[in-house]
Amino acid sequence: MNENSKNITLRLINAVKNQQSDNSPDTMIEAARSYTDPSLWLKEQQQFFIDTPQLVGFAGEIESPGSFITATVMNTPVVITRAEDGILRAFINACAHRGARVAEGCGTRKRLNCMFHGWSYGLDGKLAGRPKNECFASDNAQTNLIALPVSDNHGLLVVGCHPGVSQAQVDTFLDPLAPALQDFNFRAMRSIETRKLDVNAHWKLVVNLSHESYHFSVLHRDSLSPFMTDHFVMDSYGIHTRWAFPMKGIEQLADKPENEWPRHLPGIINHTLFPGTLLIANPQDAQIIRAEPGKTIDSSVVYYTGAYYNEDGFDEEKRIEAKKAYDFGGDIFASEDLAAAEQCQQALNAGLSQMIFGKNEPVLQYWHNLWKQQLR
Ligand code: FES
Ligand SMILES: [Fe+2]
Repeated sequence: MNENSKNITLRLINAVKNQQSDNSPDTMIEAARSYTDPSLWLKEQQQFFIDTPQLVGFAGEIESPGSFITATVMNTPVVITRAEDGILRAFINACAHRGARVAEGCGTRKRLNCMFHGWSYGLDGKLAGRPKNECFASDNAQTNLIALPVSDNHGLLVVGCHPGVSQAQVDTFLDPLAPALQDFNFRAMRSIETRKLDVNAHWKLVVNLSHESYHFSVLHRDSLSPFMTDHFVMDSYGIHTRWAFPMKGIEQLADKPENEWPRHLPGIINHTLFPGTLLIANPQDAQIIRAEPGKTIDSSVVYYTGAYYNEDGFDEEKRIEAKKAYDFGGDIFASEDLAAAEQCQQALNAGLSQMIFGKNEPVLQYWHNLWKQQLR
């Protein structure tokens, strides 16, 4: 176990032994406006999502030349490629002819082909060929894919969903969290699948689900609670946070020499990237939960991605185990957590005027304050 994980493990052991987590000094009252004000929602949508880099996947997915993956960010279809020249690139996944998609899913190939009339592009985004080429003037009309900023720092794929997001913004987005991310070999992660979930709740209500353990023993009484405790430690890193909680029994490690501790923290580490994307690192696998505003203020779209460590080459057994964990977590998230968020939304729609965040919900408090601070 590396020093950083040891440090978190020690803090979690102390939290369990002393029955003392990183609580807030006070209770916080949050006015319902945070979730119900349409002008606030629009501003947040623009600044926090459209103009902020977004984590969409793991960089190992497109390590080899010729590979590509696709994603959707704020309704913008995105394709990320690594061409034969080895350069990582991202584009709006829209053909220069009339806009149909040039790639679906992920894979390896020499050309991206539009499904509508067959224009084809190199993985560098340049038009490579089109049927009946003689019917099109060879002037300087834009015939290449529109480039987007993209970075694979720390083994994580971060993109801007329009060309107005700068490459520097994307390159430096994760920097504040670097001390926490260095513990993980995210580049060795291979994605299992991404589920898209349409949720009838404001995006903050979805993010809030992953920011407190107070609900574990009630909402997840029969699912997670048998092996998780509600103790936690929290750290902030600029506009990002880390919030970790242990498996039951972590305190038994205190009786063992540290060199006999497992390689990874026996618990779960939730990194939250501004404005609320969860990068969840477990001992064997990882998940990304990215919630973004939906079509209306009381809806959101959630992308839930699962991945497994593939450090020593492809291992089908590891993939199957990670898929089980992904399905288990995803089913609980959908049927228990998201269902609770939708109930909270119904209450807001019915006129609930405020929410109360306890001292034992400091991550909720932190993020609600941060969202307010960050809004220009
Ligand atoms: S829209 Fe792509 S070839 Fe026509
Ligand atoms: Fe939960």
